[in-house]
Amino acid sequence: MYGDSELGQTPGLPARDQRAPGCNEQPDLAFTITSPVQGMDFSAAGDAAAKIKRALSQVGLPGSMVRRAAIAAYEAEMNIVIHAYSGTMTANISCDGVQLIAEDCGPGIPDVNLAMQEGYSTAPSHVQEMGFGAGMGLPNIRNCADEMDIVTEEGVGTKITVWIRSRPTEARGEGD
Ligand SMILES: Nc1ncnc2c1ncn2[C@@H]1O[C@H](COP(=O)(O)OP(=O)(O)OP(=O)(O)O)[C@@H](O)[C@H]1O
Ligand SMILES: [Mg+2]
Repeated sequence: MYGDSELGQTPGLPARDQRAPGCNEQPDLAFTITSPVQGMDFSAAGDAAAKIKRALSQVGLPGSMVRRAAIAAYEAEMNIVIHAYSGTMTANISCDGVQLIAEDCGPGIPDVNLAMQEGYSTAPSHVQEMGFGAGMGLPNIRNCADEMDIVTEEGVGTKITVWIRSRPTEARGEGD
């Protein structure tokens, strides 16, 4: 298991006074989006992340938060497409933030610390020829996330959970 949660902090969403300004308009907003993701199906690759991005934009979450969530969701989805057999991408969305869960059946990650290093990739050559496999997906997710947690078991699969929280300084629509 890998995690970079702040010490002593329970993973979850922020306190009410840490919400983005737009949250006051829809304080009870909460919904979930789940999409299946198929290994090596490049025709549908990115669809789950695009659906999450659309939903986040529609509910009016801060633009920078939408971008961070969209990047993290895309990278996690592509990792299922490229490295696993099948899985699901789930976004739990509230006005406090987004929790992304990418869960797959697959080979698992033997050495998570190695996998987290920039430039490390086991993507096969035919996938690299498509422009993937720079070894930047997991580091990108870490950079976008407020918290990130990886649970993986060799021969079984991987579950990546990412929390992206509204920040008081992120005005709604900022940076759009
Ligand atoms: N869901 C997964 N299942 C199994 N292995 C994974 C999974 N996600 C990542 N990995 C392993 O971690 C490595 C690093 O992942 P990362 O996303 O950083 O790079 P990449 O997918 O190889 O390339 P890029 O994301 O830049 O296209 C992968 O090459 C693979 O070995
Ligand atoms: Mg990747």
